[in-house]
Amino acid sequence: MSTLRDLAEEHTALRPADIDHLHRIAGDWQLLSDLSFADLLLWVPVDGDGTFLCVAQVRPTTAPTAYLDDQVGRIVGGAEVAHLEVAHRQGRIWREGDPVWYGDVPARHEAIPVRLRTGDGEAGEVIAVVGRDTNLSTARTPSQLELNYLTTADDLAQMIADGTFPPPRHPGETTSAPRVGDGLVRLDANGKVTYASPNAQSAYRRLGYASHLVGEDLAKLHRRLAGDPLEGTDAGNAVLAALRGEAPPRREIDARGATMLTRALPLMPAGVPIGALVLVRDITEVRRRDRALITKDATIREIHHRVKNNLQTVAALLRLQARRVAMPEARVALEESVRRVASIALVHETLSLSSDEAVEFDGIVDRVASAATEVAATEVSVGMRRRGTFGILPAEIATSLVMVLNELLLNAVEHGFPPADEEAPAPPPVDAPRPEAGISAPRPEVVVTAHRARKQLHVTVTDNGRGLPEQFDAERGGNLGLQIVRALVTGELRGTIELRNGADGGTEAAIVVPLARGTTDRLTGRAGPP
Ligand SMILES: Nc1ncnc2c1ncn2[C@@H]1O[C@H](COP(=O)(O)OP(=O)(O)OP(=O)(O)O)[C@@H](O)[C@H]1O
Ligand SMILES: [Mg+2]
Repeated sequence: MSTLRDLAEEHTALRPADIDHLHRIAGDWQLLSDLSFADLLLWVPVDGDGTFLCVAQVRPTTAPTAYLDDQVGRIVGGAEVAHLEVAHRQGRIWREGDPVWYGDVPARHEAIPVRLRTGDGEAGEVIAVVGRDTNLSTARTPSQLELNYLTTADDLAQMIADGTFPPPRHPGETTSAPRVGDGLVRLDANGKVTYASPNAQSAYRRLGYASHLVGEDLAKLHRRLAGDPLEGTDAGNAVLAALRGEAPPRREIDARGATMLTRALPLMPAGVPIGALVLVRDITEVRRRDRALITKDATIREIHHRVKNNLQTVAALLRLQARRVAMPEARVALEESVRRVASIALVHETLSLSSDEAVEFDGIVDRVASAATEVAATEVSVGMRRRGTFGILPAEIATSLVMVLNELLLNAVEHGFPPADEEAPAPPPVDAPRPEAGISAPRPEVVVTAHRARKQLHVTVTDNGRGLPEQFDAERGGNLGLQIVRALVTGELRGTIELRNGADGGTEAAIVVPLARGTTDRLTGRAGPP
């Protein structure tokens, strides 16, 4: 569907500043629609031919709509838009005329010219027309609330015609809340309440004000409620600012464990300040949930911290045991378990430091890698390198992946570069001669690469060691280490793994892991390979 901007640019001669103003209207006009109990349609004159194009539409949340069909994009001419023509040409609000019928819905039409004030504050020319169309099928004698809404709506309509509504938006402010139905208070020019809707009355009651609002000085009341009678609270000052004709940002009042959001709007039809409109919303529940979420975050971090501590205790116990057993095989097995447990602890440690359930994985890989080289440190010195970046990974991927890498790195160090006394190293394969061969043997090295492409994480662990044993079944072969790797990659990570002899001898393990949506674009600033 075309946007307001697309439609206006395609069919009209409006300037960018005009279109911005229309955007501001469409961002804030739910208020007018609700107060008017009417649909609002934003019409712009199509270049030169007397027709009008509807570029935006809003339905009231307080009354039935006059239009079941979407009107945006309609171009209309002739009798149907005669009232828009009058408002546009004469620059005045048009509200005479008999009800018209839309199918079986009787509707009253009004037309409000839209002006954009010039830079020096003069009322500028009319750039568009707001059609205000009320479904009359449920019309009855209006209640006190409805009369107050309608009066206020007329003031705002006049302000659209003056170019003083909507007020400029404050950066970062939402336009959605509070709404008319949340609670509405009307003030006279002296700041005294002339009307408060039942919901507004209830919102103030939660803050501890139980009497009737009508007749109260609202700025003073806000100060009193916030327990700040001398200084004047933000919410008190906001009311005063609105009475002066300014449009202050939304403010919150906290009192007695309750929180109320307020929005004060100046009322100055035809440039005369006649009071202010204050919309209020009880947001105690929303704030309570915000606070609960923050505590929950802290709790999760604390839990990761404890899991890490517990895993480290388990590792320490296994290490103790390893020192005590005499059988070398058993000792090696226990020492390997220590490393497996420690690598998981590393992920939980990182998680306990971050505020979300995701970790910067490069640091973890580097630590696991240097732990793996230590295994071989006394026998063969193996270099470790990481190329590219893993970026930020969600916790569930990180915990499995760190175990996988731990096993592959240990294998590379343990089997790729066995100690000299274990067995004579196999001669380099005849069909893969190494250019360096004969000059000097290449330095033992393991390289981990990582890059992301098409929502997948590609990881390789490559060593330049002696390669997989002959007759090794790369699909199924191996002991516990590779079993863990395959189970985690194809199970938890839903990825694939391939184990093969590297192009220049050595062994290469290639892993591809799909990344869930939302994690792919969360790379850190560090650049990886394309
Ligand atoms: N990078 C490598 N270079 C050479 N051989 C390897 C490499 N990785 C694995 N292998 C071979 O595959 C075998 C199986 O590895 P796997 O990790 O499953 O078991 P393991 O390392 O022997 O014991 P553990 O269960 O303690 O890890 C190894 O014994 C080794 O022969
Ligand atoms: Mg192994």
